[in-house]
Amino acid sequence: MRVRYSQSKVQLLKNAKDIVVAPDDLLITGDTFLEIGTGKGAFITTMAERFPKVNFIGFEKNATVLGFALEKVQAKKLTNVKLVNADFFAFETLSLEEKVNGIFLNFPDPWPKQKHEKRRLLSLRALSKFHHILKLGGLVFFKTDNASLFEFAKETFAASSFNPVTIDEDYQLQTTIDAETEYEHAFRLKGVKIRRGVFIKV
Ligand SMILES: C[S@@+](CC[C@H](N)C(=O)[O-])C[C@H]1O[C@@H](n2cnc3c(N)ncnc32)[C@H](O)[C@@H]1O
Repeated sequence: MRVRYSQSKVQLLKNAKDIVVAPDDLLITGDTFLEIGTGKGAFITTMAERFPKVNFIGFEKNATVLGFALEKVQAKKLTNVKLVNADFFAFETLSLEEKVNGIFLNFPDPWPKQKHEKRRLLSLRALSKFHHILKLGGLVFFKTDNASLFEFAKETFAASSFNPVTIDEDYQLQTTIDAETEYEHAFRLKGVKIRRGVFIKV
């Protein structure tokens, strides 16, 4: 789903320095979860509302898309969300080393072509970054509509220092540690099967 560049959304990000922070200015205190590829923010804002004592950080490289997420954070007056307009791969993870409780990866772009391998958020390179920032016993929560990506993910987690906790090939939304995303909503309306895996850092 392509989103047309919006100057007003980008300006909104610039004016919200209390919520939109530079990657180097991230301060981690207390229980913290990251969402990578936050999109328009339905997931992160629902979770932040439900768990007000937990901190949520959303990484999104597309500024216009992140503008939509920011509007939701502001409308709900959430104080436990920070948004980062950056490519997760360009982010130097040192400051977050072993500080994060969990990472949410919701409907990442599959990038099936070999030439786009470096962009995949499910690769040995990405998982090694996840491993670095997660606490021991930290979790990665992964959802996708894409069957081949799910197979690839299971193999990639198995080849990294993660063990599977739950693997669900036909996931029905549970609202305990989860919420519906914008992509998920569209897929569910069309009857597309959703897959979900939870993996633990060992
Ligand atoms: C397919 S969309 C899914 C959005 C949302 N998670 C959902 O489920 O509705 C993937 C999102 O991830 C973002 N993204 C992809 N690679 C990224 C990266 N390396 N760092 C930050 N964001 C990324 C894209 O800009 C896009 O908004």
